[in-house]
Amino acid sequence: MTRRKIIIDCDPGQDDAVALFLAFAAADVFELLGITTVAGNVPLELTQRNARMMCDIAKVDNVPVYAGCNRPLELELATAEAIHGDTGIDGIDVFEPALELADGHAVSFIVDTLLKAEPDSITLVPTGPLTNIATAIRREPRILPAVREIVLMGGAMREGGNHSPSAEFNMLVDPHAADTVFNCGRPVTALGLDVTHQVLSTRERVARIAALDNPVAAATAGMLSFFHRYDSKKYGSEGAPLHDPCTIAYLLEPNLFTDKLVNVSVETESPLTRGHTAVDFWRVTGRPHNTRWVYAVDADGFFELLTARLARFG
Ligand code: RIB
Ligand code: CA
Repeated sequence: MTRRKIIIDCDPGQDDAVALFLAFAAADVFELLGITTVAGNVPLELTQRNARMMCDIAKVDNVPVYAGCNRPLELELATAEAIHGDTGIDGIDVFEPALELADGHAVSFIVDTLLKAEPDSITLVPTGPLTNIATAIRREPRILPAVREIVLMGGAMREGGNHSPSAEFNMLVDPHAADTVFNCGRPVTALGLDVTHQVLSTRERVARIAALDNPVAAATAGMLSFFHRYDSKKYGSEGAPLHDPCTIAYLLEPNLFTDKLVNVSVETESPLTRGHTAVDFWRVTGRPHNTRWVYAVDADGFFELLTARLARFG
């Protein structure tokens, strides 16, 4: 079976890291062409280092990791050390990765790869602010026909915002980039807080992962044990939402998720609501249906998938 070609664009972040592990564990399904990193949870020099660390932990040395944009298109960078810790991946010991950073800018890698690709052949999987993706599209719109789908983590509807009253973090950091991506004309699937807040890394779920007793599972359990404290305090929830791995899980087992084709528009100007994703769930605006909005998931099925895949590193 032909494997699905993907590029993961991320800002590790513990949950980005678990998304990378899940993708690494599905090499039978994905041809991971490259990992591009962007400033978001922590500054770029840390997100690119953290992505390379995850490759080392998983013993993946054949996937290039690129550094991309170090700040949003128009705004100053806002980071989230309060949630992720100063390293961006608190919960495990940081080390200097053996995997070298690939030469060249992430945006150039995205543009060059897509320009050479067949139509509808590459899936982009952004799990951080959309700065790299939007910069590539704006710089070279001729890449768009090669984009099979953009499966992103971001946005919120019923859940409200997590980093402002009305905006989810990835959208808030770079709303101008998000606006470009949602309106790029290629198929967009968005997994926002409405679905990611249903996949909570509870103690028993983390314990099941820790019991797998392999370095990747141990790193996952360590990061989730740190990552949950902020959300548990904030939402009173038992465990942190596993935001970013939902993108990879959706690609692996879409039947676990429920979505609806609607319009999603992003507020880019208002200082009060910048980054808000206006999800026209009831289709009242007549705006083009530009997004598959994912809003429900079988959470137990998600964790069974994640745990089974992480067991493969044994
Ligand atoms: O709002 C959650 C998103 O912001 C996740 O991608 C997390 O890693 C942070 O980037
Ligand atoms: Ca992220």
